[in-house]
Amino acid sequence: MEPQGQDLEDLTKKIVDYGHQYLNNVDSINAYSSEASEAKLLQNAPFAEDGRNLDDLINIIKTDVDKPGINPASGGHLGYIPGGGIYPTAMGDYLAAVVNKYAGVFYASPGAVQLENMVLRWMIELIGFPKISLGNLTSGGSIANLIAIVTARDAKGITSEKIKKSCIYLTKQAHHSVHKAIRIAGLAEAHLQEIDVDERFKMDVHKLKTQIDSDIKNGLLPFLVIASAGTTDIGAIDPLDEIADIASTSNLWFHVDAAYGGFFMLVDNLKAKFKGIEKADSLTIDPHKGLFLAYGLGAVIIKDVEALRNSHYYQANYMQDVTEVLEEPSPADLSPELTKHFRGLRMWLPLQLFGVSVFRKALEEKILLCQYFYQKIQELGFDVGPDPELSVCIYRFADGIDDKNKFNAELIKAVQNDGRIYISSTTIDGVFWLRLAVLVFRTHKKTIDELLYILEKKRNSLQPCTQN
Ligand SMILES: Cc1ncc(COP(=O)(O)O)c(C=O)c1O
Repeated sequence: MEPQGQDLEDLTKKIVDYGHQYLNNVDSINAYSSEASEAKLLQNAPFAEDGRNLDDLINIIKTDVDKPGINPASGGHLGYIPGGGIYPTAMGDYLAAVVNKYAGVFYASPGAVQLENMVLRWMIELIGFPKISLGNLTSGGSIANLIAIVTARDAKGITSEKIKKSCIYLTKQAHHSVHKAIRIAGLAEAHLQEIDVDERFKMDVHKLKTQIDSDIKNGLLPFLVIASAGTTDIGAIDPLDEIADIASTSNLWFHVDAAYGGFFMLVDNLKAKFKGIEKADSLTIDPHKGLFLAYGLGAVIIKDVEALRNSHYYQANYMQDVTEVLEEPSPADLSPELTKHFRGLRMWLPLQLFGVSVFRKALEEKILLCQYFYQKIQELGFDVGPDPELSVCIYRFADGIDDKNKFNAELIKAVQNDGRIYISSTTIDGVFWLRLAVLVFRTHKKTIDELLYILEKKRNSLQPCTQN
């Protein structure tokens, strides 16, 4: 269990060599492989009493794990919400795992907890929350949303007998992790009031106000409004400032899901779009999206740290030696986790190494690339959704097509089967749209030009057989 000397060096070198080989080829690897994978090597290597050879294991990973499916490290990954995975994330994870610091409790690792809280405070400053806010580094946006919703539930006193009367306000564009969190938080029987969106897919604040007033009149208990700062489908930012005012007047908890959009606040000329975000009670923001880190880092930020603590704090007899240090809160007291990955290091290291400006410039580039695509795809005769607010947009080919949904479903299949670039799709009010989501740091203009070329070719090859 303790490789030494040459064994230690060989183990490390072989793993690192494979990683480097992957990185050196990443620009030429397809973004997607549609080939069915039987994962034969993987399936034929169950755990055994004796260990296996590292070269064979690396070959299993290479062939049956890294090749099939989507390649999220590729600049050609333009589907869902990508990110890429900057290399120092891995270095941070490496050190976190080798040293294995326990970052749950200040007493056990004052340095690790301070580092994690510093990372959180940097995000707190970015979004303009007061300095006394705190939160938690999570595995991703889903758990961040869950922590926020549980905290809102408890802070607003929504005990079991009140659930059926309580109301939560959101739009159809809210990410499904919000619905999942509502259910896991035991709130599935609450009234989920879906507020209409306007033509730009943003929450209609007049409808929100009217719905809250009517619910109060009907003896219901409005307690939570959830807005998006960058929806997954099209990147729309809800009118946060107006929603915040309505929430405040009606004494509602205001949660903002900025999992995708939040880090665009680093770009100066985009800041105004997020006006009012600082008035929220809680916020989700995902470094494994907008900071391009490898998967495994989201964050929840909460203004009322006492409320967060009330929902998550527990004492255990066997932990009686853990002295409480109130000036630096411990993650274990502010989240569902006890033993946890020291995930702060995977964000701290790249931000320190590269500096913030590198991230700001990369985000600016992603915005420009989306705008460029939005313009060029229209020149190719495609219909588009609203102007992109961030780095996501929707488009479809409809000109002269009878069954437009079917045509676009076939078009995306053709692009995916080609594999060089990966795009995904969505359906909004029964309309099938193709999506572009630019957020891999490796995506540059030549990637977008390649996608435009592929879309045009595939559209042309499909068109004759689907048109009358
Ligand atoms: C707006 C939004 N919220 C929440 C999530 C869930 O985040 P995660 O996948 O990190 O759990 C996503 C994921 O794409 C998202 O786009």
